Amino acid sequence: MEALKRTVTCGELRTADSGREVILNGWVDAKRDHGGFSFINLRDRYGITQIVVDEKTEQPARLHNEYCIAVRGTVRSRPKEMVNKTLSTGEVEVIAAGISVLGECETPPFQIEDETNAKEELRLKYRYLDLRSGGMQRRIALRSAVSFAVREFLTEQGFLEIETPTFIKSTPEGARDYLVPSRLYAGKFYALPQSPQLYKQLLMVSGFDKYFQIARCYRDEDARGDRQPEFTQIDIEMSFVSRDDVLALTESLMAHIFKKTLKIELALNFKRLSYDEAINRFGSDKPDLRFEMELIDFAPFAIKSDFMAFKTALDSGGAVKALVAKNCAAFSRKQIDELESLCKIYKARGMAWFKVSGGGQTQVSLEGGTAKFFTPQAEALCAAINAKPGDLVLVVADSNAKIACTALGAVRKELGRLLELCDPKRFEFVWIIDFPLFERNEEEGRWEAAHHLFSFPQEKYHAVLESDPGAVKGDLYDLVLNGYELASGSIRIHDPVLQKRVFEVVGINEAEAEKKFGFLTDAFKYGAPPHGGIAPGLDRLVMLMAGESSIKEVIAFPKNSFAQSLMDDCPSEISAEQLKELHLQISPV
Ligand code: AMO
Repeated sequence: MEALKRTVTCGELRTADSGREVILNGWVDAKRDHGGFSFINLRDRYGITQIVVDEKTEQPARLHNEYCIAVRGTVRSRPKEMVNKTLSTGEVEVIAAGISVLGECETPPFQIEDETNAKEELRLKYRYLDLRSGGMQRRIALRSAVSFAVREFLTEQGFLEIETPTFIKSTPEGARDYLVPSRLYAGKFYALPQSPQLYKQLLMVSGFDKYFQIARCYRDEDARGDRQPEFTQIDIEMSFVSRDDVLALTESLMAHIFKKTLKIELALNFKRLSYDEAINRFGSDKPDLRFEMELIDFAPFAIKSDFMAFKTALDSGGAVKALVAKNCAAFSRKQIDELESLCKIYKARGMAWFKVSGGGQTQVSLEGGTAKFFTPQAEALCAAINAKPGDLVLVVADSNAKIACTALGAVRKELGRLLELCDPKRFEFVWIIDFPLFERNEEEGRWEAAHHLFSFPQEKYHAVLESDPGAVKGDLYDLVLNGYELASGSIRIHDPVLQKRVFEVVGINEAEAEKKFGFLTDAFKYGAPPHGGIAPGLDRLVMLMAGESSIKEVIAFPKNSFAQSLMDDCPSEISAEQLKELHLQISPV
């Protein structure tokens, strides 16, 4: 190899290098035969260089796409009219004097292109080939740069990077655990951490007042575009801080990352919305603020109408919310039905609608759907909700106000997509604060922690913790970017008595609390500092920075939507001997 070792990369050569003798190593990206000589585009992760192969000295026919080769040759400037402006090396080419094949390649299952349209199944099965594409190379490089920027910024701020175990006692965070059976202790299991939550809190008790870790987390939950069974968090915890300290630190971290990697200056002091406001105005606790289209309170018009479904919803304490879809009056019945079925996924019974058109004598008239119920107040209604001829008005009512809001919020999101209202180049951050601490599990008739069990109930609610759990707001915050939950965090409880009260509200009695979290509550008895933290998802952050909508695009070896790795066929069976050693028996399905 010594004689064939590269002296330059495929992204490096410029006019100034003309006449240089060089050796390049890389993959055959493409080959063009020009009768008597051929052009080979030689690719590595730094770029593409054009190689000119004279058929008198070399047989290009033996070199196929994706062969790994070494080329020895001389750099030559291209004539002006032959410069390839799409390549960084487009001013030059290398005249090959000798080519050696370093690795032959079978016919690849798909063509390696900058952005492939090969089937996902194939891309995942041959991931090592998929990763050769320009797109994947850029995204994985971006991920690496983001991780570096995180370490650079937090270390500069005095944070220590501390690893915590990945074999732990189960940390309850809402999802199912991945479990590892113990060979030494029959019937006992380690859990893979859903996050390092308890360990980072323990580190605060230990006096490491500024901790971070780029931590791998594991959750056995249903897959989605922005979820993987194993993913990475930028996990952060700080002592002696209030909520605003954590928010300010996170904003500065984001600003540093964007500046260092994308050369984008973010404006600090991100917008803040309370959870209630986010639900009310956007129908989501992760609103995409790249477009407006806010939910409107339609109750004043519902009250004045004869539309019984709306009135009933209001009478039972619910809400009637509307959206004005600008210039969408031409939507077909099918399109409107599709939006309505989206509402139904969010448990709404239905979606009313009407179209606004220019009236004859009057300024506006209403048509279609439930128009007749609102025609008597058309003029005032349209003026109040700013609906103009050509607009489509969509209305959802429900006796549960949150259902009315979130159902219409889903429609808002879908309209944003359909109408291409989301500028892919914009990054709209927003903090959602003042989340409820508890959520009601109606099916099981009990309260659950909305985030996790260790978040601090805001002081003013301490008196009603047990009597009115639904009213309690926590010192909880989410950072949302372009409609995705990017990070979650909270100020934590550090008082064992308050922690015990929270456990009791969610039905965890003293004995159970002791068994599950005894080590944490015990630690809090030994001079626990007030503390809080946050965990931005690294995969989601890089996905959004790269303008992608699936985190698989920014993970080198992701699982598919069924939690499988198609490349190495995982999960896979283990031998009878291994099962025996682990004291396990597989029961028939
Ligand atoms: P949470 O569970 O909200 O909070 O997770 C924090 C962030 O991690 C990312 N994330 C995921 N990314 C990819 N795939 C998944 N399955 C997945 N699940 C979560 C998201 C999310 O915002 N311990 C707390 C944090 C804290 O309180 O400090 C926690 O884990 O970007």
